[in-house]
Amino acid sequence: METLIFGAGGMGRAIEAAILDRGWPAPHILGRPAEGRHDSATIPVVDVVFEASLGPAVAANLTAALAAGNRAFVIATTAWEADRALVASLLVGHGATAVAAPNFSLGVALFARLVEEAARLFGPLEAYDPFLVEWHRRTKVDRPSGTAKELARRILAVHPRKRRLVAPDRDGAPEPDELDVAVVRAGASPGMHLVGFDAPGETIELRLTARDRSAYAAGALAAAEWLLAEPRAPGLHGFDPIVDALVARGSVGGSGVGPAAEETRTTGAVAAAALPAPDPHASEVAR
Ligand SMILES: NC(=O)c1ccc[n+]([C@@H]2O[C@H](COP(=O)([O-])OP(=O)(O)OC[C@H]3O[C@@H](n4cnc5c(N)ncnc54)[C@H](OP(=O)(O)O)[C@@H]3O)[C@@H](O)[C@H]2O)c1
Repeated sequence: METLIFGAGGMGRAIEAAILDRGWPAPHILGRPAEGRHDSATIPVVDVVFEASLGPAVAANLTAALAAGNRAFVIATTAWEADRALVASLLVGHGATAVAAPNFSLGVALFARLVEEAARLFGPLEAYDPFLVEWHRRTKVDRPSGTAKELARRILAVHPRKRRLVAPDRDGAPEPDELDVAVVRAGASPGMHLVGFDAPGETIELRLTARDRSAYAAGALAAAEWLLAEPRAPGLHGFDPIVDALVARGSVGGSGVGPAAEETRTTGAVAAAALPAPDPHASEVAR
Protein backbone atom coordinates (compact mmCIF):
# COMPACT_ATOMS: atom_id res chain seq x y z
CA MET A 1 0.00 0.00 0.00
CA GLU A 2 1.59 3.27 -1.14
CA THR A 3 0.60 6.17 1.09
CA LEU A 4 1.03 9.90 1.49
CA ILE A 5 0.51 11.86 4.70
CA PHE A 6 -0.24 15.59 4.79
CA GLY A 7 0.99 16.85 8.17
CA ALA A 8 4.12 15.92 10.10
CA GLY A 9 2.78 16.72 13.57
CA GLY A 10 1.78 14.27 16.29
CA MET A 11 -1.04 12.68 14.28
CA GLY A 12 0.90 12.46 11.01
CA ARG A 13 3.79 10.78 12.84
CA ALA A 14 1.42 8.35 14.60
CA ILE A 15 -0.02 7.32 11.21
CA GLU A 16 3.52 6.92 9.86
CA ALA A 17 4.43 4.67 12.82
CA ALA A 18 1.31 2.54 12.30
CA ILE A 19 2.06 2.19 8.57
CA LEU A 20 5.62 1.03 9.27
CA ASP A 21 4.36 -1.31 12.00
CA ARG A 22 2.03 -2.91 9.45
CA GLY A 23 4.91 -3.57 7.08
CA TRP A 24 3.63 -1.17 4.39
CA PRO A 25 6.21 0.89 2.48
CA ALA A 26 7.35 4.07 4.22
CA PRO A 27 4.82 6.84 3.50
CA HIS A 28 5.56 10.07 1.66
CA ILE A 29 5.13 12.90 4.17
CA LEU A 30 4.38 16.50 3.23
CA GLY A 31 4.52 19.15 5.96
CA ARG A 32 3.60 22.81 5.78
CA PRO A 33 4.41 24.01 2.23
CA ALA A 34 6.97 26.79 1.88
CA GLU A 35 4.88 28.59 -0.76
CA GLY A 36 1.61 28.57 1.21
CA ARG A 37 0.08 25.68 -0.76
CA HIS A 38 1.29 22.38 -2.21
CA ASP A 39 2.14 22.15 -5.91
CA SER A 40 0.27 19.20 -7.48
CA ALA A 41 3.31 18.51 -9.70
CA THR A 42 5.30 17.51 -6.60
CA ILE A 43 2.60 15.28 -5.09
CA PRO A 44 2.97 11.52 -5.70
CA VAL A 45 0.04 9.35 -6.78
CA VAL A 46 -0.56 6.76 -4.06
CA ASP A 47 -3.20 4.24 -3.00
CA VAL A 48 -4.40 6.34 -0.06
CA VAL A 49 -3.71 9.91 1.09
CA PHE A 50 -3.95 10.60 4.83
CA GLU A 51 -4.82 14.20 5.73
CA ALA A 52 -3.50 15.07 9.22
CA SER A 53 -2.55 18.74 9.04
CA LEU A 54 -4.68 21.68 10.15
CA GLY A 55 -8.33 22.48 9.38
CA PRO A 56 -7.74 25.54 7.15
CA ALA A 57 -5.33 23.49 4.95
CA VAL A 58 -7.69 20.58 4.20
CA ALA A 59 -9.50 21.91 1.10
CA ALA A 60 -6.28 23.18 -0.54
CA ASN A 61 -4.37 19.97 0.23
CA LEU A 62 -7.18 17.84 -1.23
CA THR A 63 -7.42 20.05 -4.30
CA ALA A 64 -3.69 19.60 -4.98
CA ALA A 65 -3.76 15.84 -4.30
CA LEU A 66 -6.80 15.37 -6.59
CA ALA A 67 -5.09 17.38 -9.33
CA ALA A 68 -2.09 15.06 -9.00
CA GLY A 69 -4.38 12.05 -9.60
CA ASN A 70 -5.13 10.72 -6.11
CA ARG A 71 -8.60 9.29 -5.54
CA ALA A 72 -8.73 7.80 -2.01
CA PHE A 73 -8.43 9.87 1.18
CA VAL A 74 -8.61 9.41 4.93
CA ILE A 75 -9.27 12.81 6.52
CA ALA A 76 -8.27 12.81 10.19
CA THR A 77 -7.89 16.58 10.46
CA THR A 78 -10.53 18.50 12.42
CA ALA A 79 -11.97 22.02 12.24
CA TRP A 80 -12.71 22.20 8.48
CA GLU A 81 -16.53 22.11 8.80
CA ALA A 82 -16.82 25.39 6.88
CA ASP A 83 -15.26 23.68 3.82
CA ARG A 84 -17.24 20.45 4.10
CA ALA A 85 -19.58 21.14 1.14
CA LEU A 86 -16.64 22.24 -1.03
CA VAL A 87 -14.59 19.15 -0.14
CA ALA A 88 -17.57 16.85 -0.81
CA SER A 89 -18.19 18.40 -4.23
CA LEU A 90 -14.47 18.25 -5.14
CA LEU A 91 -14.44 14.54 -4.30
CA VAL A 92 -17.61 13.77 -6.24
CA GLY A 93 -16.40 15.88 -9.18
CA HIS A 94 -13.23 13.75 -9.41
CA GLY A 95 -14.95 10.40 -8.72
CA ALA A 96 -12.88 10.25 -5.52
CA THR A 97 -13.74 8.87 -2.09
CA ALA A 98 -12.84 9.87 1.46
CA VAL A 99 -13.49 8.62 4.95
CA ALA A 100 -13.56 11.58 7.34
CA ALA A 101 -13.92 11.51 11.11
CA PRO A 102 -12.95 13.86 13.93
CA ASN A 103 -11.76 10.79 15.81
CA PHE A 104 -10.60 7.49 14.32
CA SER A 105 -10.29 5.62 17.62
CA LEU A 106 -12.49 2.54 17.74
CA GLY A 107 -12.81 3.05 21.51
CA VAL A 108 -14.01 6.61 21.00
CA ALA A 109 -16.53 5.47 18.36
CA LEU A 110 -18.02 2.95 20.78
CA PHE A 111 -17.77 5.50 23.63
CA ALA A 112 -19.86 7.90 21.50
CA ARG A 113 -22.53 5.23 21.12
CA LEU A 114 -22.48 4.70 24.93
CA VAL A 115 -22.82 8.46 25.49
CA GLU A 116 -25.82 8.59 23.15
CA GLU A 117 -27.43 5.69 25.00
CA ALA A 118 -26.70 7.34 28.37
CA ALA A 119 -28.33 10.59 27.16
CA ARG A 120 -31.34 8.56 26.11
CA LEU A 121 -31.52 6.87 29.55
CA PHE A 122 -30.95 9.97 31.70
CA GLY A 123 -32.74 12.43 29.40
CA PRO A 124 -36.26 11.88 30.76
CA LEU A 125 -34.98 12.38 34.36
CA GLU A 126 -34.98 16.12 35.03
CA ALA A 127 -32.69 15.82 38.07
CA TYR A 128 -29.78 14.49 35.97
CA ASP A 129 -28.10 17.42 34.23
CA PRO A 130 -25.66 16.45 31.44
CA PHE A 131 -22.29 18.16 30.88
CA LEU A 132 -19.13 17.59 28.85
CA VAL A 133 -15.44 18.22 29.63
CA GLU A 134 -12.54 17.80 27.21
CA TRP A 135 -8.81 18.18 27.89
CA HIS A 136 -6.07 18.31 25.26
CA ARG A 137 -2.45 19.42 25.09
CA ARG A 138 -1.78 23.13 25.47
CA THR A 139 -0.88 23.58 21.76
CA LYS A 140 -4.07 22.15 20.24
CA VAL A 141 -5.50 24.92 18.07
CA ASP A 142 -9.22 24.18 17.82
CA ARG A 143 -11.74 24.24 20.69
CA PRO A 144 -13.89 22.44 21.57
CA SER A 145 -12.28 19.36 20.02
CA GLY A 146 -13.95 17.73 17.02
CA THR A 147 -14.71 14.75 19.24
CA ALA A 148 -16.37 16.94 21.88
CA LYS A 149 -18.51 18.52 19.17
CA GLU A 150 -19.53 15.08 17.93
CA LEU A 151 -20.37 13.89 21.47
CA ALA A 152 -22.39 17.08 22.03
CA ARG A 153 -24.17 16.58 18.69
CA ARG A 154 -25.21 13.08 19.76
CA ILE A 155 -26.43 14.27 23.19
CA LEU A 156 -28.42 17.15 21.68
CA ALA A 157 -29.95 14.80 19.10
CA VAL A 158 -31.59 12.56 21.71
CA HIS A 159 -31.90 14.65 24.90
CA PRO A 160 -35.44 15.95 25.44
CA ARG A 161 -34.43 19.29 27.05
CA LYS A 162 -31.00 20.21 25.66
CA ARG A 163 -31.12 22.08 22.35
CA ARG A 164 -27.78 23.97 22.02
CA LEU A 165 -24.35 24.52 23.51
CA VAL A 166 -23.68 27.27 26.05
CA ALA A 167 -22.28 30.21 24.08
CA PRO A 168 -18.52 30.53 24.77
CA ASP A 169 -17.40 33.38 27.05
CA ARG A 170 -20.90 34.02 28.41
CA ASP A 171 -21.29 34.73 32.15
CA GLY A 172 -24.01 33.25 34.31
CA ALA A 173 -25.76 29.91 34.62
CA PRO A 174 -26.63 27.94 31.49
CA GLU A 175 -30.22 28.15 30.28
CA PRO A 176 -32.20 24.91 30.86
CA ASP A 177 -31.92 24.01 27.16
CA GLU A 178 -28.13 24.63 27.03
CA LEU A 179 -25.46 21.94 27.31
CA ASP A 180 -22.21 23.13 28.93
CA VAL A 181 -18.91 22.05 27.34
CA ALA A 182 -15.73 22.84 29.29
CA VAL A 183 -12.42 22.98 27.42
CA VAL A 184 -9.03 22.53 29.09
CA ARG A 185 -5.80 23.19 27.19
CA ALA A 186 -2.79 22.23 29.33
CA GLY A 187 0.27 20.03 29.23
CA ALA A 188 0.63 17.17 26.75
CA SER A 189 -2.65 15.22 26.96
CA PRO A 190 -3.47 13.48 23.63
CA GLY A 191 -7.17 13.65 24.54
CA MET A 192 -9.57 13.19 27.47
CA HIS A 193 -13.37 13.39 27.12
CA LEU A 194 -15.76 13.16 30.03
CA VAL A 195 -19.54 13.13 29.82
CA GLY A 196 -21.34 13.50 33.13
CA PHE A 197 -24.89 13.51 34.44
CA ASP A 198 -25.11 15.43 37.71
CA ALA A 199 -27.98 15.03 40.17
CA PRO A 200 -28.39 16.35 43.75
CA GLY A 201 -27.10 13.16 45.38
CA GLU A 202 -24.73 11.65 42.79
CA THR A 203 -22.71 12.12 39.60
CA ILE A 204 -22.42 9.57 36.81
CA GLU A 205 -19.25 9.98 34.70
CA LEU A 206 -18.30 8.33 31.41
CA ARG A 207 -14.63 9.10 30.73
CA LEU A 208 -12.29 8.17 27.90
CA THR A 209 -8.59 8.98 28.25
CA ALA A 210 -6.19 8.50 25.34
CA ARG A 211 -2.65 7.52 26.40
CA ASP A 212 -1.17 8.27 22.98
CA ARG A 213 -2.31 8.63 19.34
CA SER A 214 -1.93 4.94 18.42
CA ALA A 215 -5.68 4.19 18.60
CA TYR A 216 -6.41 7.12 16.25
CA ALA A 217 -3.78 5.89 13.79
CA ALA A 218 -5.05 2.29 13.91
CA GLY A 219 -8.55 3.45 12.98
CA ALA A 220 -7.21 5.65 10.19
CA LEU A 221 -5.45 2.60 8.69
CA ALA A 222 -8.64 0.53 9.03
CA ALA A 223 -10.46 3.30 7.13
CA ALA A 224 -7.81 3.12 4.36
CA GLU A 225 -8.31 -0.65 4.09
CA TRP A 226 -12.09 -0.22 3.94
CA LEU A 227 -11.73 2.34 1.14
CA LEU A 228 -9.65 -0.03 -0.97
CA ALA A 229 -11.53 -3.25 -0.17
CA GLU A 230 -14.12 -2.55 -2.85
CA PRO A 231 -15.40 0.39 -4.91
CA ARG A 232 -17.12 3.01 -2.70
CA ALA A 233 -19.53 5.74 -3.72
CA PRO A 234 -17.64 8.96 -4.53
CA GLY A 235 -17.87 11.61 -1.79
CA LEU A 236 -17.49 11.71 1.98
CA HIS A 237 -18.10 8.70 4.19
CA GLY A 238 -18.16 8.55 7.99
CA PHE A 239 -16.30 6.11 10.28
CA ASP A 240 -19.42 4.16 11.35
CA PRO A 241 -19.34 1.46 8.62
CA ILE A 242 -15.70 0.74 9.47
CA VAL A 243 -16.52 0.53 13.17
CA ASP A 244 -19.33 -1.92 12.41
CA ALA A 245 -16.97 -4.03 10.30
CA LEU A 246 -14.26 -4.05 13.00
CA VAL A 247 -16.74 -5.01 15.71
CA ALA A 248 -18.24 -7.72 13.50
CA ARG A 249 -14.84 -9.35 13.06
CA GLY A 250 -14.01 -8.99 16.76
CA SER A 251 -11.06 -6.63 16.30
CA VAL A 252 -11.41 -4.67 19.49
CA GLY A 253 -7.99 -5.56 20.92
CA GLY A 254 -5.24 -3.22 22.16
CA SER A 255 -4.29 -1.38 18.98
CA GLY A 256 -7.83 -1.51 17.66
CA VAL A 257 -6.83 -3.40 14.52
CA GLY A 258 -6.54 -6.97 15.88
CA PRO A 259 -6.13 -10.08 13.74
CA ALA A 260 -6.02 -8.30 10.38
CA ALA A 261 -2.95 -6.38 11.52
CA GLU A 262 -1.25 -9.63 12.48
CA GLU A 263 -2.06 -11.10 9.05
CA THR A 264 -0.56 -8.07 7.32
CA ARG A 265 2.62 -8.24 9.35
CA THR A 266 3.24 -11.90 8.51
CA THR A 267 2.22 -11.90 4.85
CA GLY A 268 3.04 -8.35 3.85
CA ALA A 269 -0.34 -8.27 2.13
CA VAL A 270 -2.89 -5.56 2.54
CA ALA A 271 -5.56 -6.74 4.97
CA ALA A 272 -8.38 -5.09 3.06
CA ALA A 273 -9.88 -8.40 2.01
CA ALA A 274 -10.27 -9.36 5.67
CA LEU A 275 -12.98 -6.75 6.14
CA PRO A 276 -16.48 -8.16 5.76
CA ALA A 277 -18.69 -6.55 3.13
CA PRO A 278 -20.25 -3.45 4.68
CA ASP A 279 -23.94 -2.79 5.07
CA PRO A 280 -24.91 -1.31 1.66
CA HIS A 281 -26.83 1.50 3.39
CA ALA A 282 -23.83 2.39 5.56
CA SER A 283 -21.66 3.12 2.52
CA GLU A 284 -23.96 5.86 1.33
CA VAL A 285 -22.36 9.27 1.30
CA ALA A 286 -22.43 10.42 4.90
CA ARG A 287 -23.78 13.66 6.41
N1 LIG B 1 -9.32 12.05 13.56
C1 LIG B 1 -8.51 11.68 14.58
O1 LIG B 1 -8.57 10.56 15.09
C2 LIG B 1 -7.52 12.68 15.10
C3 LIG B 1 -6.67 12.35 16.17
C4 LIG B 1 -5.71 13.28 16.57
C5 LIG B 1 -5.65 14.51 15.93
N2 LIG B 1 -6.53 14.80 14.94
C6 LIG B 1 -6.47 16.05 14.18
O2 LIG B 1 -5.40 15.92 13.25
C7 LIG B 1 -4.85 17.21 12.99
C8 LIG B 1 -3.36 17.15 13.28
O3 LIG B 1 -3.18 16.87 14.64
P1 LIG B 1 -1.73 16.95 15.29
O4 LIG B 1 -1.90 16.55 16.69
O5 LIG B 1 -0.75 16.21 14.45
O6 LIG B 1 -1.47 18.52 15.17
P2 LIG B 1 -0.06 19.25 15.07
O7 LIG B 1 0.92 18.55 15.94
O8 LIG B 1 -0.33 20.70 15.25
O9 LIG B 1 0.43 18.98 13.55
C9 LIG B 1 -0.14 19.56 12.43
C10 LIG B 1 0.96 19.65 11.40
O10 LIG B 1 0.43 20.04 10.13
C11 LIG B 1 1.39 20.91 9.55
N3 LIG B 1 0.78 21.69 8.47
C12 LIG B 1 0.24 22.93 8.48
N4 LIG B 1 -0.23 23.25 7.27
C13 LIG B 1 0.02 22.19 6.45
C14 LIG B 1 -0.23 21.90 5.09
N5 LIG B 1 -0.83 22.80 4.28
N6 LIG B 1 0.14 20.70 4.60
C15 LIG B 1 0.76 19.80 5.38
N7 LIG B 1 1.03 20.01 6.70
C16 LIG B 1 0.66 21.19 7.21
C17 LIG B 1 1.86 21.76 10.70
O11 LIG B 1 3.06 22.41 10.36
P3 LIG B 1 3.65 23.57 11.33
O12 LIG B 1 4.37 22.81 12.40
O13 LIG B 1 4.53 24.35 10.44
O14 LIG B 1 2.49 24.36 11.86
C18 LIG B 1 2.04 20.68 11.76
O15 LIG B 1 3.29 20.05 11.67
C19 LIG B 1 -5.61 18.17 13.89
O16 LIG B 1 -6.67 18.75 13.15
C20 LIG B 1 -6.16 17.29 14.99
O17 LIG B 1 -7.34 17.82 15.59
C21 LIG B 1 -7.45 13.91 14.52
